[in-house]
Amino acid sequence: MATERTLSIVKPSAVCHNHIGGVLAKLEAAGLRIIAAKMLKLTPEQAGNFYDVHRARPFFRELVDFMTSGPVLVQVLEGEDAIAKNREVMGATDPAKAAPGTIRAEFGKDISENAVHGSDAPETAAVEIAFFFAGSELCPR
Ligand code: RTP
Ligand code: MG
Repeated sequence: MATERTLSIVKPSAVCHNHIGGVLAKLEAAGLRIIAAKMLKLTPEQAGNFYDVHRARPFFRELVDFMTSGPVLVQVLEGEDAIAKNREVMGATDPAKAAPGTIRAEFGKDISENAVHGSDAPETAAVEIAFFFAGSELCPR
Protein backbone atom coordinates (compact mmCIF):
# COMPACT_ATOMS: atom_id res chain seq x y z
CA MET A 1 0.00 0.00 0.00
CA ALA A 2 1.25 3.44 -0.90
CA THR A 3 0.74 6.78 0.78
CA GLU A 4 -1.76 8.63 -1.40
CA ARG A 5 -3.52 11.98 -1.47
CA THR A 6 -7.13 12.48 -2.45
CA LEU A 7 -9.63 15.32 -2.70
CA SER A 8 -12.66 15.38 -0.43
CA ILE A 9 -15.54 17.87 -0.43
CA VAL A 10 -18.17 18.38 2.25
CA LYS A 11 -21.14 19.32 0.06
CA PRO A 12 -23.47 22.31 0.75
CA SER A 13 -26.28 20.40 2.47
CA ALA A 14 -23.88 18.80 4.97
CA VAL A 15 -22.15 22.13 5.62
CA CYS A 16 -25.45 23.94 6.20
CA HIS A 17 -26.77 21.17 8.48
CA ASN A 18 -23.68 21.58 10.68
CA HIS A 19 -22.11 18.23 9.79
CA ILE A 20 -18.57 19.42 8.97
CA GLY A 21 -17.27 18.16 12.31
CA GLY A 22 -19.10 14.85 12.01
CA VAL A 23 -17.72 14.22 8.52
CA LEU A 24 -14.15 15.17 9.39
CA ALA A 25 -14.25 13.06 12.57
CA LYS A 26 -15.11 9.97 10.50
CA LEU A 27 -12.29 10.70 8.04
CA GLU A 28 -9.77 11.16 10.87
CA ALA A 29 -11.01 8.04 12.67
CA ALA A 30 -10.32 6.08 9.46
CA GLY A 31 -6.68 7.16 9.64
CA LEU A 32 -6.87 9.87 6.98
CA ARG A 33 -4.93 13.06 7.66
CA ILE A 34 -6.44 16.41 6.62
CA ILE A 35 -3.41 18.19 5.18
CA ALA A 36 -5.26 21.20 3.72
CA ALA A 37 -8.79 22.61 3.84
CA LYS A 38 -10.70 25.67 2.68
CA MET A 39 -14.30 26.82 2.65
CA LEU A 40 -15.54 28.11 -0.70
CA LYS A 41 -18.72 29.09 -2.48
CA LEU A 42 -18.40 27.56 -5.94
CA THR A 43 -19.54 29.45 -9.01
CA PRO A 44 -21.64 27.55 -11.59
CA GLU A 45 -18.62 27.63 -13.90
CA GLN A 46 -16.32 26.11 -11.24
CA ALA A 47 -18.86 23.42 -10.30
CA GLY A 48 -19.47 22.59 -13.97
CA ASN A 49 -15.77 22.32 -14.72
CA PHE A 50 -15.13 20.22 -11.62
CA TYR A 51 -17.87 17.76 -12.63
CA ASP A 52 -17.07 18.06 -16.36
CA VAL A 53 -17.12 14.26 -16.74
CA HIS A 54 -20.86 14.35 -15.94
CA ARG A 55 -21.73 17.22 -18.33
CA ALA A 56 -23.85 15.01 -20.63
CA ARG A 57 -25.70 13.27 -17.78
CA PRO A 58 -29.37 14.07 -17.11
CA PHE A 59 -28.54 15.07 -13.52
CA PHE A 60 -25.78 17.55 -14.47
CA ARG A 61 -27.89 20.70 -14.08
CA GLU A 62 -29.23 19.49 -10.73
CA LEU A 63 -25.70 18.64 -9.60
CA VAL A 64 -24.36 22.12 -10.46
CA ASP A 65 -27.36 23.81 -8.84
CA PHE A 66 -26.81 21.77 -5.67
CA MET A 67 -23.04 22.26 -5.51
CA THR A 68 -23.51 26.04 -5.82
CA SER A 69 -26.42 26.26 -3.34
CA GLY A 70 -24.16 27.10 -0.38
CA PRO A 71 -20.58 26.90 0.84
CA VAL A 72 -18.52 23.73 0.54
CA LEU A 73 -15.50 22.62 2.56
CA VAL A 74 -12.78 21.27 0.29
CA GLN A 75 -9.98 19.22 1.81
CA VAL A 76 -6.95 17.17 0.83
CA LEU A 77 -6.63 13.84 2.64
CA GLU A 78 -3.42 11.87 2.95
CA GLY A 79 -2.84 8.33 4.12
CA GLU A 80 -2.17 4.73 3.20
CA ASP A 81 -4.47 3.80 0.32
CA ALA A 82 -6.24 7.14 0.89
CA ILE A 83 -8.33 7.13 -2.30
CA ALA A 84 -10.02 3.77 -1.64
CA LYS A 85 -10.14 4.33 2.11
CA ASN A 86 -11.97 7.64 1.64
CA ARG A 87 -14.46 6.05 -0.77
CA GLU A 88 -15.05 3.27 1.78
CA VAL A 89 -15.74 5.73 4.62
CA MET A 90 -17.97 7.80 2.30
CA GLY A 91 -20.23 4.86 1.41
CA ALA A 92 -22.27 4.28 -1.75
CA THR A 93 -23.37 7.24 -3.91
CA ASP A 94 -27.00 6.66 -2.89
CA PRO A 95 -27.22 7.11 0.91
CA ALA A 96 -30.07 4.57 1.01
CA LYS A 97 -27.58 1.94 -0.24
CA ALA A 98 -24.60 3.13 1.84
CA ALA A 99 -23.36 0.80 4.58
CA PRO A 100 -24.30 1.70 8.16
CA GLY A 101 -21.77 4.00 9.81
CA THR A 102 -20.55 5.51 6.54
CA ILE A 103 -20.66 9.28 6.00
CA ARG A 104 -23.37 9.11 3.36
CA ALA A 105 -25.51 6.73 5.44
CA GLU A 106 -25.29 9.09 8.39
CA PHE A 107 -25.29 12.54 6.77
CA GLY A 108 -26.63 12.08 3.21
CA LYS A 109 -30.23 12.84 2.25
CA ASP A 110 -30.58 11.29 -1.22
CA ILE A 111 -28.54 10.37 -4.32
CA SER A 112 -28.11 14.05 -5.18
CA GLU A 113 -27.56 15.55 -1.72
CA ASN A 114 -25.16 12.86 -0.59
CA ALA A 115 -22.95 14.85 1.83
CA VAL A 116 -19.49 14.31 0.34
CA HIS A 117 -17.39 14.00 -2.79
CA GLY A 118 -14.25 11.88 -3.06
CA SER A 119 -11.80 11.38 -5.91
CA ASP A 120 -12.17 7.97 -7.54
CA ALA A 121 -8.65 7.21 -8.90
CA PRO A 122 -5.04 8.46 -8.65
CA GLU A 123 -5.32 10.43 -11.91
CA THR A 124 -8.55 12.19 -10.92
CA ALA A 125 -7.21 12.82 -7.39
CA ALA A 126 -4.19 14.67 -8.79
CA VAL A 127 -6.34 16.77 -11.15
CA GLU A 128 -8.95 17.51 -8.46
CA ILE A 129 -6.37 18.51 -5.83
CA ALA A 130 -4.73 20.89 -8.32
CA PHE A 131 -8.19 22.28 -9.18
CA PHE A 132 -8.46 23.76 -5.66
CA PHE A 133 -4.97 23.86 -4.12
CA ALA A 134 -1.49 25.08 -4.94
CA GLY A 135 1.22 22.67 -3.81
CA SER A 136 2.43 25.28 -1.30
CA GLU A 137 -0.94 25.13 0.53
CA LEU A 138 -0.52 21.46 1.55
CA CYS A 139 1.40 20.13 4.56
CA PRO A 140 4.92 19.28 3.39
CA ARG A 141 5.65 15.62 2.69
P1 RTP B 1 -18.78 12.06 -6.14
O1 RTP B 1 -18.15 12.15 -7.52
O2 RTP B 1 -19.56 13.29 -5.78
O3 RTP B 1 -17.77 11.68 -5.11
O4 RTP B 1 -19.85 10.88 -6.12
P2 RTP B 1 -19.72 9.42 -6.73
O5 RTP B 1 -18.38 9.23 -7.37
O6 RTP B 1 -20.15 8.47 -5.69
O7 RTP B 1 -20.85 9.47 -7.84
P3 RTP B 1 -20.78 10.00 -9.36
O8 RTP B 1 -21.36 8.95 -10.22
O9 RTP B 1 -19.40 10.49 -9.69
O10 RTP B 1 -21.79 11.23 -9.33
C1 RTP B 1 -21.37 12.51 -8.97
C2 RTP B 1 -22.44 13.17 -8.14
O11 RTP B 1 -23.56 13.48 -8.96
C3 RTP B 1 -24.76 13.38 -8.18
N1 RTP B 1 -25.63 12.39 -8.77
N2 RTP B 1 -26.90 12.60 -8.90
N3 RTP B 1 -29.66 12.29 -9.53
C4 RTP B 1 -28.82 11.30 -9.81
O12 RTP B 1 -29.17 10.27 -10.33
C5 RTP B 1 -27.40 11.49 -9.47
N4 RTP B 1 -26.44 10.61 -9.70
C6 RTP B 1 -25.30 11.20 -9.25
C7 RTP B 1 -24.35 12.99 -6.78
O13 RTP B 1 -24.19 14.19 -6.00
C8 RTP B 1 -23.02 12.32 -7.01
O14 RTP B 1 -22.23 12.32 -5.84
MG1 MG C 1 -17.53 10.60 -8.75
